[in-house]
Amino acid sequence: MAEQFDVVVIGAGAAGMMCAAAAGQRGKRVVLVDHAEKLAEKIRISGGGRCNFTNIHAGPANFLSENPHFAKSALSRYTPQDFLALVKKYRIAYHEKHKGQLFCDDSAEQIIDMLKAECNAGNVRWRMPATVQSIEKQDERFLVQTSAGLIDAGAVVIATGGLSIPKIGATDFGYRIAKQFGLGIVEPRPALVPLTFDAQQWQPFVPLAGVSLEVDVETGTLKGRKATGARFREDLLFTHRGLSGPAILQISSFWQPGTPITINLLPELDVAATLLEGKGTIKKHLGNVLAQWLPSRLAEGLLQAHGFNADARLADLPDAQLRRLGQAINGWTVTPNGSEGYRKAEVTRGGVDTKELSQQTMMVNSVPGLYFIGESVDVTGWLGGYNFQWAWASGMVAGLSV
Ligand code: FDA
Repeated sequence: MAEQFDVVVIGAGAAGMMCAAAAGQRGKRVVLVDHAEKLAEKIRISGGGRCNFTNIHAGPANFLSENPHFAKSALSRYTPQDFLALVKKYRIAYHEKHKGQLFCDDSAEQIIDMLKAECNAGNVRWRMPATVQSIEKQDERFLVQTSAGLIDAGAVVIATGGLSIPKIGATDFGYRIAKQFGLGIVEPRPALVPLTFDAQQWQPFVPLAGVSLEVDVETGTLKGRKATGARFREDLLFTHRGLSGPAILQISSFWQPGTPITINLLPELDVAATLLEGKGTIKKHLGNVLAQWLPSRLAEGLLQAHGFNADARLADLPDAQLRRLGQAINGWTVTPNGSEGYRKAEVTRGGVDTKELSQQTMMVNSVPGLYFIGESVDVTGWLGGYNFQWAWASGMVAGLSV
């Protein structure tokens, strides 16, 4: 015998719990199914354990999608201020860290507990851990076969997220269900991810692992009708295999394989002009000159990597060499050979094509009663609380519609 529900939400992560709570609090009979042993592991590890739960400046411009207009409706109906009101209602202490990013003062667990309490307030039932074996549509209803029994529901919400961090339970379930119902998928790929370089090419930079500094980074074309590029000023971190840090995670979402990224290691200084001007007056060695502006390990490493002698006197170097050094610092252009992949990616770019969905409700246009929300959809936020805001907003509008 199948258990009857109005709504079955598959995936009890950020979007799924938000949706289940909203639907339950409207009086719908809701069941949440998740295969994980531990609830909402991604929220738990987010923001270094303090969950960057939203960004007060979040708007459609902070998201990537084949249709940049798609996210507008949900984002305007459930705003960062709305989520903040919920956080305040639960007396969760928070602070703004940087560029509108809001974090818990204490622990991400508080956000999980809050969402659990909101689900309880909506009398949401749990089937967890439970796997989903199949979903079938029969007339106006859905039959969902799970390891915890058969569920018969009027609506199914897929909230199983993307492919990032398989170790904590990410699967391609959402894409498989989309394919089963004949829906288009924008090719998924790792985003907000460290970039890697050819081992031989990277050899000179390996000793710089651990060096961090604020840079400008850009990729692709920023002009034209369909901009594919972007530019960010954030911290960059050298690693043994390549580059990481917020600057690189941000640009990785825009980076196209095979293309270069350009990094300005000293965005506030025109290095070539300053070196040329100082040639007559600065008596120092090149290494010491650069160490005034850059971490000394980086100054040394850059000079070595670009074939300069750190002990050379500035005054002795030809102008063309100083211009070349300026370019290497203000416009360092490097071509990654790939990324650290889903193992390290914070999110998955791509997903269920937004053409298939209603932007007001997240329901599939061609399959009434079937919904996709959160990261399973082709809407990807920048780094900085935007991805959770999308999970809350898309979850809420679906929860109000089911
Ligand atoms: P989410 O991944 O949260 O939930 C999916 C759920 O579905 C999981 O509970 C999973 O177990 C379940 N599931 C998957 N397959 C299933 C199957 N086959 N059957 C049953 N259940 C299944 N964002 C942000 O805004 N601020 C931040 O601070 C961070 N920090 C951060 C750190 C790290 C390390 C990562 C990896 C990611 C972040 N993010 C983030 C991104 C953010 O965590 C992410 O975008 C949201 O959790 C997406 O919410 P969803 O509900 O869509 O998926």
